[in-house]
This record gives sequence, structure tokens and C-alpha cells, in this order.
Amino acid sequence: MAERALPLTEKPAGKAVQRCILPACGSSYAIHERIYVCPACGGPLEIELQLPSGGELAGLRKLWEVRAGSRDARDISGVWRYREMLPFDDSAPFVTLFEGNTPLYDAQRCADYCGLVNLRLKHQGCNPTGSFKDTGMTAAVTQAVVLGARAAICASTGNTAASLAAYAARAGLQSAILVPHGQISPAKLAQSMDYGATVLEIDGNFDDCMRLVQELGDDPSIYVANSINPFRIEGQKTVAIELMRQCNWQVPNHVVVPGGNMGNSSALAKGFEEMMRLGWITALPKLSVIQAEGAAPLARLFAELAPKQSPADTALPNELKFVDKPQTLATAIKIGAPVSWRKSLRAVLRSRGQIITVSEQEIADAKAMIGRDGIGCEPASATTVAGIKKLVASKHIKPEETVIAVLTGHVLKDPDYVSNYHRGTLSIDAGHGPQAISGAFRNVPQRAAANKSAVLKILESRS
Ligand code: F0G
Repeated sequence: MAERALPLTEKPAGKAVQRCILPACGSSYAIHERIYVCPACGGPLEIELQLPSGGELAGLRKLWEVRAGSRDARDISGVWRYREMLPFDDSAPFVTLFEGNTPLYDAQRCADYCGLVNLRLKHQGCNPTGSFKDTGMTAAVTQAVVLGARAAICASTGNTAASLAAYAARAGLQSAILVPHGQISPAKLAQSMDYGATVLEIDGNFDDCMRLVQELGDDPSIYVANSINPFRIEGQKTVAIELMRQCNWQVPNHVVVPGGNMGNSSALAKGFEEMMRLGWITALPKLSVIQAEGAAPLARLFAELAPKQSPADTALPNELKFVDKPQTLATAIKIGAPVSWRKSLRAVLRSRGQIITVSEQEIADAKAMIGRDGIGCEPASATTVAGIKKLVASKHIKPEETVIAVLTGHVLKDPDYVSNYHRGTLSIDAGHGPQAISGAFRNVPQRAAANKSAVLKILESRS
């Protein structure tokens, strides 16, 4: 049975507001309004919190350390442990699967591969449903319960869906997931089926699903759980806090993440920026976002913009040219119209990071290299290591700098990809016929006779 919670600090959610991030608008709305974009101008919303101060702030980091050893459910969760930084009342009906608390690994083979002295991998694939989405979903589904929603929905390339399905099941809430038919990993789809979601396979791509979800979000009984929802971002931002604890509050020079719908980069940036406002860190890590070449609308804009761009918000462009038919085998990030592109771009510019692309070959080999470190991840996550290698080569990252790559999904999220890579059958068809992806680090299973000497011979040949 759970022990009594450790001392709570008073922080009514009423002190937080939802605010439009566009400087020309900046409208604010009550925290319990069920909105996902600014009703005045259509801009993205973020939650503005009254951050802890005074005596509460002074003891907070110590309190969190104590909570890490507590048996209270809210303290075990690697999100709710940091509840002073979340826009919820202490009485919130939190829905948890004990998310967070994910490992930060040293990865020496990956470091060598990238040309770095050290590289650390923050493995968000070690969350309950196998992806980073859980740290945000715990907050979004809790807010759905607070608002009395009948059902929660999302568009997904698979991971958001699995996460929503699981958390909604925990909350006893109906969930519906909209996924592009035939374009997501069967392993991810299987999760959503198992968690009891209404699974809708849409004839279209992820961007079509996302558009549909935004239309459905007008229905007052439905709650949208995509990262357009600012509560998702609040949960996900706690990863930055957990990371700083794991780094003993020494700010890394670089944090590198994959980019799809751009919620993750937005959330991490919010976490770092709030810690800076609290005076816990004195500099922001350079936040870089890596996209797959065939699904890279933001990298394209960044390349046009970066040379002349200042980090000031007012300089943010108004439009992003979407990619009509995104293509990549990293299906998690097969997205041409990312909803959180403004927040993400703002974060990268403010921190002086980069947004670049990597090829299918680069993703595949980087993924195998992460596997060789005994860690493993799904293809989208490997864009980070592939991107870091490129950023070292282009001198945006110096070999001795401290670098963290955020791995977003578990290796078993897409077993077909892994198997095809190692067996030499991986290929992509971007409309001009299949193009083979040769693996530099293939590891093909070997057939052996059922006797000792046959096995020993193979072991010898590989030593
Ligand atoms: N990595 C993985 C494994 C993902 O599943 C996603 C997004 C990303 C990276 C990109 O993160 O969207 O925050 O920029 N997956 C979403 C989904 C779109 O539906 O599961 P982002």
C-alpha cells in the first residue's frame, strides 16, 4: 500500500494561465478552458505558471530528492514528483503508470562513431508504453479527467496512440486513435489494440489524421491529446528537470532530439527555460532537432533562415512550407505539417542550436550503432546519433563538448525494420521504385547444425 505523500506545497492550478505564444497577440485564457489554439488568433498556446519562489524554491530540489525514495504514487512517478512545476491542484486526479525515471547511459561506441569524447543517451523508450509520449500523456489524460471529457482522441504515427490508449484505459476513459492506414509499425498498433482504444485506420497520412483530430476537437465531449495540447508539453518538460538532476545540475553543451510534430523539442526547451528563470541553470543547452531527409519541413525553413535570424521572438516567420508527401522509414516522424513548429523553431533559435536532416542510410547505421552499445532504439530515435555525427563533422559540436541525445522509442517498437536492416532487406520506396538501404553494421543470424562443434566453429570465426 502507498505510504502517505511527503509534504506538499500549495500551488493551486488557478495561478496558471494558457497564453498565446505569438508576440503580436499574447492573449491569455483560464487554465480550465478546453482550447488547443488561441481562440483570438489561432496561434499556439502554452501554459504560463507562477513558478516557485522564496522558501519553497529554496527547499524544492532537496524535496524532490527525498521524494525519489518515497513509496507514494505521486512521488514514484518521474513526472508528478515535480508537481510544483505543473499546472494542477494538489487534489488533481492524477493518472499515472509510473512514467519517467528513465536512464541516462554513457555510449562509448556511439561517441567514437560521432567523433566525440563522450556521448550520453537519455532513453525515453524506457517509459511504460515504450516511448517518451508517456511523460506528457500522464498530464494530458489527467486534465481530460479534470475537465470531465467523455473521450480522448489523437492522431498518431503509433506512439502517441499507444500512450493515450494506455493512460485512457487507466482512467476509465474512452480513447480513439487516428492512424494512417498501413503506415505505422504493427507493434505500435498492437499496443493500442491491447489497451482497448477505438482504432481508426484512416485512408491518408499522419497530417490528414491531425487535421481530422483538430476538427473533432470542436466537439465539447472530446479531448485532444496531441502535443498541440499544452498540458502534454507540461508533462514532457519534466524530462529536462530529470535530466539536469542526472547531470548533477551541470548544463550539457548540447541536447539533440528527433523532430516530427515538434512537441518534444518544444517541451524540453520549456523545461530548460523555466529552470533558467529559477536560477538553477545559468545557460541553456544548445537544442538541436534532427529530421529525416524526406520529412523535413522545419530543417528546410531553418536552412533558409538561420544565417540571417536573430534569437528574438518577433523575428519568427509566419509560415512553414509543409511537405506534401513525407517519406521515411522512420515512420514515427513521417510528418509533413508539424503542429508545434513555431514553438520548436523559437526554442532552437533562442538556444542557438541547429535543425538539420539525415538520410535513411545515416539513420539506419546510427540505429545499429546504438544497438552495439547495448542500448537499442526505434529508427526515429537514431536520427539523433546520425545528426550528432553530422554536427561534429560540420564543427557545430566540438569533440570534447558534453552532448546528450534523447532516444524517444524502444527498439521493439519496430522489429521489422531492425530485422530487415540486419538481413539486408531494408528498402524505401519514395515513388520511384524500391531503393535498398545497405547496412554497414549488419548482424545476420547464422544457421547451425545442432551440435557442439558447429556452434564452436561459428563462435571462433567471429571472435
Ligand atoms: N521519436 C518517436 C519515437 C516518435 O514517436 C515521435 C513522434 C518523435 C520522435 C517526434 O517527436 O513529434 O514531439 O517532434 N511521434 C508522434 C506519434 C507523432 O504520433 O507517436 P515530436
